[in-house]
Amino acid sequence: MKDRAQNISLSIGGEVHHLQCHPGRRLSDVLRDDLNLKSVKIGCDAGDCGACTVLIDGAQQCACLMPALQAHCCEIETLETAEPDLSQRLQDAFLNHGAAQCGICTPGIMMAAMELLRAAPHPDEAEVQAALGGVLCRCTGYRKIIKAVMAANETTGLRAAQDCAAVGQSIPRLDGRPKVDGSEIFGADHVAPGSLLIRAVRAPMYHADFSFGDTAGWVAERPDVHAVITARDIAGVNAFGVIPPLADQPALAESHIRYLGEPVALVIGDPDVVEALDLSDFPVSWKPRPHSLTEADGAVADAALLHKNRPDNTLICGNVTCGTADAALQDAAHVVSGRFETSYVEHAYIEPEAGAAWMEGGVLTIQACTQAPVMDQEETAKVLGLPPDKVRIIPAAAGGGFGSKLDLTVQPLLGLAVLKTGRPCHMVFSRTESMQASTKRHPGTMQASIGADADGRVTGMVFHGDFNTGAYASWGPTVATRVPVHASGPYRTPNYRATSRAIHTNGPTAGAFRGFGVPQAAITQELLYDDLAEKCGLDRLAFRRLNALADGDKTPSGQVLQAVGLRDCLDALAPHWTRAGEDAAEFNARHADRKRGIGVASCWYGCGNTALSNPSTIRLGITAQARLRLHQGATDIGQGSNTVIAQIAADALGVSVDAVELIGPDTALTPDCGKTSASRQTFITGRAAEAAGQTLRAAILRLTNLSDLTGLELGAGTLTARQDGTHRSIDLTALPVDAHGYVLCAEETYDPPTTALDENGQGTPYAVYGYGAQIAEVEVDLKLGTTKVLHITAAHDVGRAINPLLAEGQIEGGIAQGLGLALMEEYIPGQTEDLHNYLIPTIGDMPPVTSLLIEKPDPEGPMGAKGLGEHVLIPTAPAILNAIRDACGAKITKVPALPHRVLAAMKAAR
Ligand code: FES
Repeated sequence: MKDRAQNISLSIGGEVHHLQCHPGRRLSDVLRDDLNLKSVKIGCDAGDCGACTVLIDGAQQCACLMPALQAHCCEIETLETAEPDLSQRLQDAFLNHGAAQCGICTPGIMMAAMELLRAAPHPDEAEVQAALGGVLCRCTGYRKIIKAVMAANETTGLRAAQDCAAVGQSIPRLDGRPKVDGSEIFGADHVAPGSLLIRAVRAPMYHADFSFGDTAGWVAERPDVHAVITARDIAGVNAFGVIPPLADQPALAESHIRYLGEPVALVIGDPDVVEALDLSDFPVSWKPRPHSLTEADGAVADAALLHKNRPDNTLICGNVTCGTADAALQDAAHVVSGRFETSYVEHAYIEPEAGAAWMEGGVLTIQACTQAPVMDQEETAKVLGLPPDKVRIIPAAAGGGFGSKLDLTVQPLLGLAVLKTGRPCHMVFSRTESMQASTKRHPGTMQASIGADADGRVTGMVFHGDFNTGAYASWGPTVATRVPVHASGPYRTPNYRATSRAIHTNGPTAGAFRGFGVPQAAITQELLYDDLAEKCGLDRLAFRRLNALADGDKTPSGQVLQAVGLRDCLDALAPHWTRAGEDAAEFNARHADRKRGIGVASCWYGCGNTALSNPSTIRLGITAQARLRLHQGATDIGQGSNTVIAQIAADALGVSVDAVELIGPDTALTPDCGKTSASRQTFITGRAAEAAGQTLRAAILRLTNLSDLTGLELGAGTLTARQDGTHRSIDLTALPVDAHGYVLCAEETYDPPTTALDENGQGTPYAVYGYGAQIAEVEVDLKLGTTKVLHITAAHDVGRAINPLLAEGQIEGGIAQGLGLALMEEYIPGQTEDLHNYLIPTIGDMPPVTSLLIEKPDPEGPMGAKGLGEHVLIPTAPAILNAIRDACGAKITKVPALPHRVLAAMKAAR
């Protein structure tokens, strides 16, 4: 390779760089690896995601598609080197508008925006959509990006926090600057000097036994390969899992693979050599076994068993029963029934799994993308046979997660490689590896019957769902238990029986994905509710309001609810429902080949783990130099916990949020805040932060002998506390320093009060629920079967909007993913393993969103707040599907509602 290298000159930000470059090298790799321009992100290496977008002679270009030689003598701009004034305005606009969540797409989007803004300084929405159409964002739903780009040239700086309580303010995210200036460190961005590259040898089939040949001989023939690792090298327990009693997933398969792409060996060596290796000649032979890919095939009597101790391939069953559901259906005035199927859905975060590891002071240190640092520490240590305190996890910024980065991926593999070679190592999944090996949303096959009395009041429901949990347990048990609790929807259902099964197949492991099965169940229940409303002769929104849960109502699990904001949400939607219906009718009167329709659906979602302890601990300390540090161990994967938790802590203490210095997450520096999942961080970690702030405030009151604080200032080794006209100062340098380095410190833990569910699913599975409802307006092309979503109106009861800007961002991002679930996303193992064949919503697919934040404070939440992240996705798909039916009569029974399915359903309706 080296003798074919050629001299090239790249002009980057006005500076000319002379390089030697092999003809096959991508410009993106040269910019990142040779010139350290890490704002150029790699999401697919195929031109599908646009994360590597740079400007070449002023025009946007995917750097992964361009050979570096082709850029010889071109002027290249990356976010680090672009015109400073325009870059600064865009950065501030993105922060002011909340247009960057995880931030992995942000540099590419900003480069595309720069090209546009030079040609059209004040673009309209259509121009922004056209210019940014080649860059994908999985987090934001694009609406705030559009606003930020349109406003960039009017932006005069970063919006400052107002001098009052932080909670309730739309302050820009506190950790936002590195996301918008391109300096954020994601999993692939840190490579230690001398680091070796790891690649995995993966199974080329769904189910097989395997054995290795002469791996030592294979290595000996390749001098730059330093080591091969197989399961024989694993010193600890070769089985990890998010639910420890069910841990079943090997870091490297031992002699039996259960899904396509399962890793069986690692090859470690010089990065240039290992990157270019053809691993198809790795000495491993395969003996295929029969396989199943659907929950129906996995459950048949003669299906090949994946795990000896799980008969019938059943991982777990779930059940919630109350009253007499069958009798209620028999006695009902109206009964509807239906069967619905959903598909595997890929998380499709723009950042494939990646990380680096090295030894530091005798501790294995792993910096990788994750949603669960403490769980990573415990599970990785177990696999490696190390005590947990010999493993340190420093989460890299996560370029999207949505549930999948809760499971271990690169972490134990990095550890194995570092321990074997004694060298720093790094690993980056390709897009195809990521899609094969990461967890997915569970496909489900669900049947339900729902009955109502003559007045339209729901009297009973029977539900069963089979969920394809794939090869390993992951979060299958959570889905199987959460679904029966939620399958009634947020509606009074006095007689109820909901059952579920998680069934193993040789598909990819299904795990956590924003909603844990509730979005699938909501499709079943909400589509049947439209049938039932029709039978009852009631308006669809009025039918839902009639049956909506309210304060004091019991859930099917027997829990008495408080602070239920669903009716408030439906009431807020009512005028929009009327207006949307009139608009659709007016359009339909004028068009024959396209029809518009409207749909509505609701959601509820219990925040936190189901019927399990899930505490968070927050530490808040003041140094002798008067610095206030918030040790915040919750990973912020774009949802905003770094900002929201700081706002809560600042107000609880009584200090400006600007004074808060964020520490972590890092298992060496931060207490355990649990996993970023199940919409638990604002609620649970927020409660811990509130308690820590209050405890520290109480300590300050004691020290200053004041009864209340109306002001608190920190500076020059002094703390000054005010109570109206009185002020007292403390010389912090005179106070003793504790083990954490603080002169004043509070550490508080909050664990939501839940109880286990009994054999009928009765108990208190969650301490707090959030509620919401959405209206979808769609247009269906009657000839093509295509659906265009025109508008979503979303009302969500957040209890207390800690940061309305970030809450709206969650709503818009969740709606985008719900739209994908409804209309386009279907992961087919072995077929849709890249972002070319697996489609997610682009900027052109995303409709305008009207967000209505409803605040019905929950006494259990911090300052009344409830979780939001999962809730927002749940109603979108059923609202869209109900709108399709309203437009053209098509009753969709399998999602996504691809055009051929819409056409078939229209035909069936006729
Ligand atoms: Fe766009 Fe995360 S902010 S992908």
